[in-house]
Amino acid sequence: MHAVARHPGDTDRLPLDGTWRFQLLPTPDTAPGAAWQEAEVPGCWTMQGTGDLPHYTNYVMPWPEVPPASPKANPTGVYEREIHVPEVWSGRRIVLQVGAFESVLIAEVGGTVVGIGKDSHLASEFDITDAVRPGEPTTVRLTVVKWSDASHIEDQDQWWHGGLTRSVRLEALDPLHLADVTVRAGADGLLRADVQVRSAAGGAKLPDGWYATAHLEGAGELAADTEYAAWCEDQARVSDFLGEARFHARVADVRPWSAETPHLYDFTVRVHRADGTVTDTSRHRIGFRDVRIDGRDLLINGERVLIRGVNRHDFHPLTGRVVSYDDMRADLVTMKRFGFNAVRTSHYPNDPAFLDLCDELGLYVVDEADIEAHDHAHEIADDPRYLPAFVDRVSRMVLRDKNHPSVIVWSLGNESDYGANHDAAAGWVRRHDPTRPIQYEGALHKGWDTPWLATDVICPMYASIDEIVAYAESGRQTKPLILCEYSHAMGNGNGSLADYWAAIESTPGLQGGFIWEFWDHGILQRLSDGRPAGPAGAGGYADGVAGPGLRWAYGGDFGDTPNDGAFVTDGVVFPDRTPKPVMYEHRELAAPLRLTDDEDGLRVHNRQHFRDLSWLAAEWMVSVAGERTDRDPVPARLPAVEPGGSAPVEAPKELLDALPDDGEAWLTLRIRTAAEEAWAPAGFEVCAPQVRVREARPFTEPVLADGHPVDVDEQALLVHPALSAPPVLSLWRAPTDNDELGGLGERWRSLGLDALVRKPLSYQRDDSGRQTVIAQYDTAAGPVLHTQVLHPLPDGILVEETAELPEGLTDIPRVGTVFETAARHERLAWYGQGPWETYPDRRHGGSVGHHESAVDALFTPYLRPQESGGHHGVRHFTLDGAFRVDLDEPRQVSVTRHRAADLTAATHHDELVPRNACVVHIDAAHRGLGTASCGPDTLPRYRTGAGIYRWSWTLRTSSA
Ligand code: GAL
Repeated sequence: MHAVARHPGDTDRLPLDGTWRFQLLPTPDTAPGAAWQEAEVPGCWTMQGTGDLPHYTNYVMPWPEVPPASPKANPTGVYEREIHVPEVWSGRRIVLQVGAFESVLIAEVGGTVVGIGKDSHLASEFDITDAVRPGEPTTVRLTVVKWSDASHIEDQDQWWHGGLTRSVRLEALDPLHLADVTVRAGADGLLRADVQVRSAAGGAKLPDGWYATAHLEGAGELAADTEYAAWCEDQARVSDFLGEARFHARVADVRPWSAETPHLYDFTVRVHRADGTVTDTSRHRIGFRDVRIDGRDLLINGERVLIRGVNRHDFHPLTGRVVSYDDMRADLVTMKRFGFNAVRTSHYPNDPAFLDLCDELGLYVVDEADIEAHDHAHEIADDPRYLPAFVDRVSRMVLRDKNHPSVIVWSLGNESDYGANHDAAAGWVRRHDPTRPIQYEGALHKGWDTPWLATDVICPMYASIDEIVAYAESGRQTKPLILCEYSHAMGNGNGSLADYWAAIESTPGLQGGFIWEFWDHGILQRLSDGRPAGPAGAGGYADGVAGPGLRWAYGGDFGDTPNDGAFVTDGVVFPDRTPKPVMYEHRELAAPLRLTDDEDGLRVHNRQHFRDLSWLAAEWMVSVAGERTDRDPVPARLPAVEPGGSAPVEAPKELLDALPDDGEAWLTLRIRTAAEEAWAPAGFEVCAPQVRVREARPFTEPVLADGHPVDVDEQALLVHPALSAPPVLSLWRAPTDNDELGGLGERWRSLGLDALVRKPLSYQRDDSGRQTVIAQYDTAAGPVLHTQVLHPLPDGILVEETAELPEGLTDIPRVGTVFETAARHERLAWYGQGPWETYPDRRHGGSVGHHESAVDALFTPYLRPQESGGHHGVRHFTLDGAFRVDLDEPRQVSVTRHRAADLTAATHHDELVPRNACVVHIDAAHRGLGTASCGPDTLPRYRTGAGIYRWSWTLRTSSA
């Protein structure tokens, strides 16, 4: 049986969520005892203090048995409760629906087994009419066996859990019911609905005179297609057991559905007995839209829409895999607010409400079947013992989700090699739903030119920019190329997202992709006993940081072996859904509106496919280097621009005329929602494109006369009352996840970059008080010479630095200065990119301007501590207004309370003890972030290596 969308008001429902009796048995063969505890449904028992804890593996199965075997030790949860089927349900068909379970379900009612289910992310339904007596209490027992043959095809990269993860309920239906409704509604306003009707479950005959009706908002009651009925009659298709009806409608002036314009229409189908009584109703919120592939383009309503997608797992830091309606909505609202227009349900079907929300909020969905055979992919893809499971999982998803306008592509699953089982599933889909393309990454394994039959999209994962561009330009591409995964968001990463998008937008044939992934799957863990904090989340969390006595757990933290450590924390949001800095990068890259300033003057570009700019309100702002704050904004009038078009926009004369005579200046167009959107209130900032209206004046050497004396100690290190640690050379950053997994962390350690020892080589002082210090830092690739020239200034000092890196010192993290402040400064104000963290290859989210922040908030709490808190393009900064640094040119700067060594040594955020001092890094060069934890490394142009580097800065400790 599969679910037809029924409205709660029309189908009698009895929710069975809540507290159930529960016991956890060591194997499915163990008989339940007398001792029950309680468990919440829906819930993962692995998150509810049962002793069976979450376990993380990427793809290695957590036990050695090969398919289809599973281990003897097999946690088995027995859930039990009484149900009272209302007396008024007598004579009706009663269905027990279990929303999701992991991984095998045995359902018993009144001591009788009514069925078993597999497929962890689709509902199982059992007709229990004969097992219950309305008016009398009955016991329902749901036994959930954690491991089975099915675990081998649910081997996704996430935590393993056990439990009932979605709602459980009873439904009462009339025996005469809607078995299937297929709605097809095109952007031209044409609708066709095919309806199938059956009577009871046991194959009873349909009652004489039954009929179906359909109602569409804007078109009223639809006439049944009599021609079709006559044809059915003629073809002897009319059966005593299966009724079919077909409806057509044409809606004039239809408002098509798209992710930008998610217009929905109410559509209702009813089935009636001969006397007119309604026996079943199915309600849909449908959208009129087309999906079509034309050559290398995937077209939505005829438009080549760029897919700005993200992969999403069902995840919650307190409940594991149980997500409420509100949580799903919050996930999707977050995506919309940061410019995403598509989501891949990696790697299984989501709760049906998730698709309702995508329809309503406007997100394109790649709906993925629950098939990942990863560890044994090759054996399983062609194993006929798994054939029914493949076809079942794909077809049940399609049957459930086919009426959602948001679903634009079916996915056959993930990382399961390729075999006959895929062809069988794809064959079924092509026949049942010819209206949508299919994608499957495993079908590319014999090459992108001639993929296997089961994919209509070239959907590789983690391909490099060069690869996709070369392919698109090769003349060999025949299908759209949309990356199913790219830009791995582990830790401080997502380098070169902007470079991907520059390539995608300028290369015909490239159409976007899905960032891996939305969530950092950190489970909130109590430090006292190492258990999940549980649904109550004792102590809580805020802004990405776990509360006191708690931490975000990753693989291995529950004693789970084998495990893949922090690889499960690779999302664009922290486990509490706080956006990581990459979200702001994405928001700017995906902005609906762009601003350019070239020989044609200032222009705005409407980057949307279907919408004009009238939903956006705008204001101009100007930032001028050297001033304390940005100027007050003035309202801007946006010109009318069609989707895809551009138009001149008038510059804010009053702001530009008032600019000082020289100095760098930036013009920002701050864009907000003009009115409330389904995903944002009115006034919500959508993007803030910028153009530079005046170049920086060249750096002028400060006046070097009559300065304060500059002291150095016996090691020739600067002695300054405002510094607790003098400026020295830094070539080290706490390796990011990309650095570690890409093998660089290890290489940098073997070069000795984490433990540089400074040896003063020479010291000179001239008559003007200028002191020159040359020091040597030994690395395994040879010595680095570091020269510091310290000039006294009337109000501070100027430090000019040079570093000479030997030939063999290639591809290192940074070249720059590090020092620490003597005072505990609280606030940093800077002119440069911000307020979000930015790095050389991830810097589009930070606009240039005057930014200010508490020092404590400058550090991004990546789950495994690593390089964090950087700001690109900093021209000057002050700490509490009392400590000012000016840089010779825009530089990468970070000010945090953590030394790189502190971050390197810690495995979790709770181990870090913030210092009182501010640790300040000023970099002449800083390696980009790249995505090497899974995918291409940092592009060569963002790397740092051998050569001579020069940089200088001034320190003034009077007022700013
Ligand atoms: C992909 C896989 C994802 C995830 C990702 C790395 O290969 O499809 O499930 O494992 O790599 O985080």
